[in-house]
Amino acid sequence: MSKRILTGYRPTGKLHLGNLHGNLKRMIELQEEAECYFFIADWHALTTDYQDPSRLRAYTEDMVLDWLAAGIDPAKAVVYRQSDLPEVAEFHLYLSLITPLGWLERVPSFKEQQEQLRGRDISTHGFLGYPVLQAADILIVRADGVPVGEDQLPHLELTREIVRRFNFLYGETFGEPQSLLSPSPRIPGTDGRKMSKSYGNYISLTDPPEEVRKKALSMITDPARRTRKDPGDPEKCSAFQLHKAYSVKELDDIAERCRTAARGCVECKTMLAERIVESLLPFQERRGEMESRPGYAWEVLREGVEKVRPVAREVVREVRERMGID
Ligand code: TRP
Repeated sequence: MSKRILTGYRPTGKLHLGNLHGNLKRMIELQEEAECYFFIADWHALTTDYQDPSRLRAYTEDMVLDWLAAGIDPAKAVVYRQSDLPEVAEFHLYLSLITPLGWLERVPSFKEQQEQLRGRDISTHGFLGYPVLQAADILIVRADGVPVGEDQLPHLELTREIVRRFNFLYGETFGEPQSLLSPSPRIPGTDGRKMSKSYGNYISLTDPPEEVRKKALSMITDPARRTRKDPGDPEKCSAFQLHKAYSVKELDDIAERCRTAARGCVECKTMLAERIVESLLPFQERRGEMESRPGYAWEVLREGVEKVRPVAREVVREVRERMGID
């Protein structure tokens, strides 16, 4: 029996290097060996952005094209949009009936996001139910594995708690999905913090070469290297963390030249920039090609949802039966 893998991304626009190394590469590997479901979580995006949905369609299209150009293959993985699968909404309702309020109020992202997104009113029923909707996404295809970042672990734990409660109430129906954390090192942004859309410290996969060079050169290096002659500690340098992904073969040499001040930071970051530019070239070429085919992303999503629909329908049918409304 092949494993079922599922993951979703909120449509927030173009992907960056942090997304690529953190999760996307893993997804591209997994599609070769498992039954994969990759979807655009547009309902989840609306839980925080319901006041301004004007960019939702453009963001969805951008994300799909980035996925495909990076190597997600719609012939191998099922790629779809959450809102095209209303079965998820129905299932979310059933799960919401059995999920205690206290579990949701305890999820760390609930309080954190309320703090961080102060400008928006997210004291809503929908936002509180965010992890229940996520559980519905996962269980509607009976996923065994969910590739996610560390921030999503509490949501996966809640999904397993919901599974246990459902099985206890209505009989053994679902298995417990496991989270698959990416083994690759954390990719820092230009300011040294985790690369993230919300920090504005990212290099996009679609950034043109001049932009990549500018951003790579602005990366924070070891603050102890104030002049060209000061030796540095590569582990304290954000650019070195990226070299770990882009300069694997020369890594020891790069570290050594930093420690002995044999190479300056500008030269070191210029090297890095060229590696990144070079690696993005084939991606950007494929993406350009896809952009010239109007409606291509939507076509892929339309075909994808038809593949997941029978799976989802069967799960909802069984849930209805278990809950006495068949
Ligand atoms: N909450 C996830 C995020 O912010 C997105 C998501 C929605 C998801 N549903 C999912 C991830 C199901 C994995 C599985 O990144």
